[in-house]
Amino acid sequence: MNETIRDDQLRLLYELDVDLSRIQDLDLLLEEILRGARHTVNADAGSIYLVEANQLQIRYSQNETLQKRLPPGEQLMYSIFSIEINNKTISGYCALTGELLNIPDAYQIPPAAPYSFNPQYDKLSHYKSQSYLSLPMKTNTGSVIGVLQLINAHDDQGEIRTFTADDERLVTHFSTSATLALQRAQLMRTMILRMTRMAELRDPKETGPHVNRVAGYATEIYRRWAHHHNVPGKEADRLSDLFRMASMLHDVGKVGIDDAILKKPGKLDPTEYEVMKTHTNIGASLFIDTQSEFDSMAAQVAVTHHERWDGSGYPLGLAGNAIPLWGRITSVADVYDALSCHRVYKEAWPEDKVLAEIRSQSGRQFDPEVVEYFFEALPNLHQIFERYPDS
Ligand SMILES: [Fe+2]
Ligand SMILES: [Fe+2]
Repeated sequence: MNETIRDDQLRLLYELDVDLSRIQDLDLLLEEILRGARHTVNADAGSIYLVEANQLQIRYSQNETLQKRLPPGEQLMYSIFSIEINNKTISGYCALTGELLNIPDAYQIPPAAPYSFNPQYDKLSHYKSQSYLSLPMKTNTGSVIGVLQLINAHDDQGEIRTFTADDERLVTHFSTSATLALQRAQLMRTMILRMTRMAELRDPKETGPHVNRVAGYATEIYRRWAHHHNVPGKEADRLSDLFRMASMLHDVGKVGIDDAILKKPGKLDPTEYEVMKTHTNIGASLFIDTQSEFDSMAAQVAVTHHERWDGSGYPLGLAGNAIPLWGRITSVADVYDALSCHRVYKEAWPEDKVLAEIRSQSGRQFDPEVVEYFFEALPNLHQIFERYPDS
């Protein structure tokens, strides 16, 4: 059916993989796991580092003492920093060796130890990190995907104490939960990646850069929408992440369209066009079990991304707000990309012509409000366009 996968396709798939790995749909869960671990052993502070691109990236950080110094409602700022995975730092050593480290006093680490403590962050934040418990987050195959680190266990009098062997066992439980949650999310990303690969292999027009751009545009437009509709930050983050994945799959239903139609070089005749339209329902049928919020969002995107605001779209002929928001946004994002790019059957349109077309379709093909946010987000959309060029 298909030729072998070429190098450039593999590269694109790799890029898609990298993009998907940015998704942070587990934020709330991992924050809770960190909080649970800290409370269980009465630790003042803690962080979760994740292994990304052969480095440890700090992703979650909590510090009760520093938090109390802030005005109410304000969040602790921790500089996003990354740490090399080598044995020079506490967390780096942990990630490299897969060993747990229980350090009574970071300022008294024996000189013979391979790792040492960098007091720089303490100086900057006017905080003293003393006792450390650092655990690798290890999968069942033994690879380390992150580090869970707790700082300054307190005794009943509120004095800093050393972490005990019991603490080690308890925190191991939390680190296992965090690892499983991350692996579950990874599995979901992998499944989505495979679905987009399938669609790409079937339909040469649905390329990796195209789905990445559409997902990027759609997410940016949604962020404006969320801002104007006062969606709380965390909720907007969570939904953007789901939406990024769901919008990548807008045309996944094309896997069910006959090759003769899908790969036809010329224009489709009316009968063929009717068949082509069914990619919307076929796509939705892949998520029919709607076991999760993601499934239901992906189904809505698949089935409604060709609906039109004025009701003249397909397959249902829905109009206005009867079209789910996810479909209304994906529709603008998909058309913007299709017009801006060269396709086998057409040249890329110049930007001003594309923008004029989107503007003129406001209230006809597109939701006027979505068009407004599309224009607001335009500088960000240009960046996305630069980031995922067609090869
Ligand atoms: Fe489509
Ligand atoms: Fe598309």
